[in-house]
Amino acid sequence: MLHPVILSGGSGSRLWPLSRHNQPKQFLALVGDRSLFQETALRAGRLPDVQAPIVVCSEDHRFMVGEQLQELGSGHGGILLEPVARNTAPAIALAALHLVARDPDAAMLVLPADHLIDNEDSFRQAVQEAARLADEGWLVTFGIAPEHPETGYGYIQRGEAINGAGYQVRRFVEKPDQAMAASYLAAGDYSWNSGMFMFRAQRFLDELGVHAPAILEAAREACEDAKGDLDFIRIDKDAFATSPSDSIDYAVMEKTSRAAVVPVSCGWSDIGSWSALWAAAEHDGDGNRHEGDVISLDSRNNLVRASARRMIATIGIEDVVIVDTADATLVARKDRVQDVKQIVDRIRQSG
Ligand code: GDD
Ligand code: MG
Repeated sequence: MLHPVILSGGSGSRLWPLSRHNQPKQFLALVGDRSLFQETALRAGRLPDVQAPIVVCSEDHRFMVGEQLQELGSGHGGILLEPVARNTAPAIALAALHLVARDPDAAMLVLPADHLIDNEDSFRQAVQEAARLADEGWLVTFGIAPEHPETGYGYIQRGEAINGAGYQVRRFVEKPDQAMAASYLAAGDYSWNSGMFMFRAQRFLDELGVHAPAILEAAREACEDAKGDLDFIRIDKDAFATSPSDSIDYAVMEKTSRAAVVPVSCGWSDIGSWSALWAAAEHDGDGNRHEGDVISLDSRNNLVRASARRMIATIGIEDVVIVDTADATLVARKDRVQDVKQIVDRIRQSG
């Protein structure tokens, strides 16, 4: 049986001022009426032969997760609460340990809570191919055809084909610099890592034990000392805090020889920044995405989001992001929105 695991612990600081610590981006309705987290849960629920999703999130967000699942009428296979954030490798380890205790053969599909997928049929087909490879012991990644030399993604070089379902991974490079990213793009046999993974839970734990034993150790102890509390499973703080903080990409995928990639073209986008949201969402004929009360004159390719309390008017501007909220307004050039993180860091320092 396939168990989706939704990773929902990120802070989404590049989507400030809408995304805040107590309400990060994955819980906001950024596109449409439902949050990215809810869309992820619904998408997972539409896969064939699938169990209710396991959610791994911060203890601070437990009520939001509970309420948002309830709103969908969806069940869950456990909401694991992290007392501190230790990045994705320990988070996935918690879910894997939770699963193998119940089903030693469980396969898990790891899904970040902040992605959009346009073409669900292709996604479903890729998941089915990945499931076959996972059963053979592969740690499967989903590869996206790269479009530009993005430095915020992992890059996967394809090796030999495996049974027509995917390819062995020749190399996995997490977040290369600009020059390396450009060379991978030119080489033609690299994909972007989508950040979704599929494997047998036990297989992942075995690889983690080889490549990052301290993470496995801490996660195991933290799970053993976990406490059930209504819908929630509270992971032990003292044990979990001793885990090194590392992503699955650096801790396991760059190192393992058992990685495979299934290419998928499913209209995937990672809603990491305002420009990514602009690119992924619908625009009007002038390339504008307007939300709320917005009037524009001779303005193109902007993302403008008005809050309920005031109208925004633009004249003669291009490639700009304007986001208004009750207590903060962002005005930025679209090609500078990655630096929103610096603003958030400054606010934290001063605050
Ligand atoms: N539960 C939990 N705990 N979730 C976490 C934590 C944590 O400590 N840290 C991050 N996450 C969640 C985030 O909410 C997000 O959904 C997902 O895990 C991935 O984390 P990111 O921090 O967004 O990773 P990234 O974007 O830098 O890189 C990853 O995704 C890229 C594609 O979007 C990597 O897998 C890259 O290789 C990949 O290209
Ligand atoms: Mg991300």
